[in-house]
Amino acid sequence: MTDEELLDAARTVRDLAYCPYSDFRVGAAIIDENGNVHVGCNVENAAYPQGSCAEAGAISAMVAAGGQRIVTIAVAGGGSGKTRACTPCGGCRQRIHEFSDGETRIIFKDDDNEWHQYSMDDLLPSSFHL
Ligand code: THU
Repeated sequence: MTDEELLDAARTVRDLAYCPYSDFRVGAAIIDENGNVHVGCNVENAAYPQGSCAEAGAISAMVAAGGQRIVTIAVAGGGSGKTRACTPCGGCRQRIHEFSDGETRIIFKDDDNEWHQYSMDDLLPSSFHL
């Protein structure tokens, strides 16, 4: 699967986001170490802290399917009818870190349709681990 196809998967699931409070849709798509793809979208809640991020959903889907390592994760954000660049929030950086290694790539396109690619160390330097 190409990066473009993975981003397309993130954009497709983004359209299913449940985000009546922020109106900010996010989709995430992961390729795991087995070459399988897992997707997730943000799911908000009237009790705001109970909402969950797209990356969290995709990671849960990966683990439930037997995946252990994120090879590449693509993230796509946006409001109604818009496409917006979206880097993982701080909490999701730690979530991705749990299933990453030195080769893990975090990719997205910015508002000008330009690709950006980061490593886990770029996004979460001096990270916490046990
Ligand atoms: N959101 C994500 O799903 N992932 C991120 O990395 C950043 C934020 C969601 C949470 C909330 O539903 C909405 O975007 C606005 O913050």
